Amino acid sequence: MYVCLCHGISDKKIKKLALESGILDIRGIKRCTALGSQCGKCVKQAKEILSDTVQIYSQAS
Ligand code: FES
Repeated sequence: MYVCLCHGISDKKIKKLALESGILDIRGIKRCTALGSQCGKCVKQAKEILSDTVQIYSQAS
């Protein structure tokens, strides 16, 4: 599913950055991608996905 339609960034990409690259905050995701740099509508949903991913990851480890 696309989270950022302006730049074609999917939820999978956000989860991958969090789990494989250890980027666990929205600022880091924004630094690595163009997320939120155009209309900004995607940032709220991206934060929720990131938060859920971090929570699931921390419960599993
Ligand atoms: S949807 Fe991400 S910047 Fe517009």
